[in-house]
Amino acid sequence: MICDASTTNPAAPRPAAMPIAQHEQSTLLITGLSGYVGQGLARHPALARFGRVVGTYFQHPVSLPGHATCRLDLTDAQAVDALWEAVQPTVVIHTAANFAQPASLTASIVAGTQHVVAAAAKHGARLVHLSSDVIFDGEHPPYAEDASPDPITPYAQAKAQAETLVRTSGLADWVMVRTSLVTGLAPVDPRTQWVWDSVRARRPITLFTDEYRCPVWVEDLAAALLELTQLDFRGVLNVAGPQRLSRYAFGVKLCAFAGLDPAAITAAVVANSGLVRPRDCTLDIRLAQRVLRTRLRSVDEGLLSAHNR
Ligand SMILES: NC(=O)c1ccc[n+]([C@@H]2O[C@H](COP(=O)([O-])OP(=O)(O)OC[C@H]3O[C@@H](n4cnc5c(N)ncnc54)[C@H](OP(=O)(O)O)[C@@H]3O)[C@@H](O)[C@H]2O)c1
Repeated sequence: MICDASTTNPAAPRPAAMPIAQHEQSTLLITGLSGYVGQGLARHPALARFGRVVGTYFQHPVSLPGHATCRLDLTDAQAVDALWEAVQPTVVIHTAANFAQPASLTASIVAGTQHVVAAAAKHGARLVHLSSDVIFDGEHPPYAEDASPDPITPYAQAKAQAETLVRTSGLADWVMVRTSLVTGLAPVDPRTQWVWDSVRARRPITLFTDEYRCPVWVEDLAAALLELTQLDFRGVLNVAGPQRLSRYAFGVKLCAFAGLDPAAITAAVVANSGLVRPRDCTLDIRLAQRVLRTRLRSVDEGLLSAHNR
């Protein structure tokens, strides 16, 4: 385990919504700090209120001013245990996953979660685990928190297995956050970047008109995850945006925002593509809207406020 220097976090303004005493007493461990969601967490002002924060990376070293970062390979059970022993986290946000190949999916998502769960059980900690809307087959939307996973892709199967590990772990204190397409403009998320780059380069791309998701702004997801570290909530929670959009409609909106002509985007339907993809993974977010103070903004709201800035 390689760790960069750690210092105690300097005092920060009190948030209105969160109990400050709990933050100050918390040691927060974030797996996957170098990822897109992890960096959203790293930028969030609420992070400054934790007594201590440690973030992990795997192949892309990152720093976290005022806090520590460590290299961690989640597939190495001993390394995960050693990190827990050294950090003694009171709460963990587990985002790390490797989407590259089927083998790394299973190793990082399934074995990685198994090691995280085992460490949390051995040393204790509240676990906020990040899951995905694609654990559903997309044929029975909208999906509430009590919907059972029926994954149809290797990634979804790995995420569903990870969910089962958390559920059956015997851990006393866990939250499973199911989210959707994580979107952001500063910095731009990889999916949006791909759409913009393709359109700018006049490279034809195809987006589905019948594949629906509920994109969530990375700032809102990060705020919700951090809020959940301190809330007395256990179980599954859908944290996604309130606006159901097809991939095509979403791509067109993103192009309009960037002043790009969406004509380069070809509309298609999943059924004719020959691909196995869940069509409609709309999440019912009414529970999150009751439980969280974090407001989950629609795509349109986020684009409008970015436009007005
Ligand atoms: N992005 C979305 O639209 C979306 C939607 C639904 C759910 N999710 C879930 O959200 C989570 C975060 O997604 P993301 O978009 O932030 O992913 P990402 O940008 O690809 O980041 C993945 C993170 O996992 C780390 N990692 C990969 N393999 C690892 C290993 N063997 N050991 C330890 N760390 C490892 C990476 O470290 P290095 O980069 O340093 O190698 C990186 O920090 C995932 O669990 C994903 O399933 C994401």
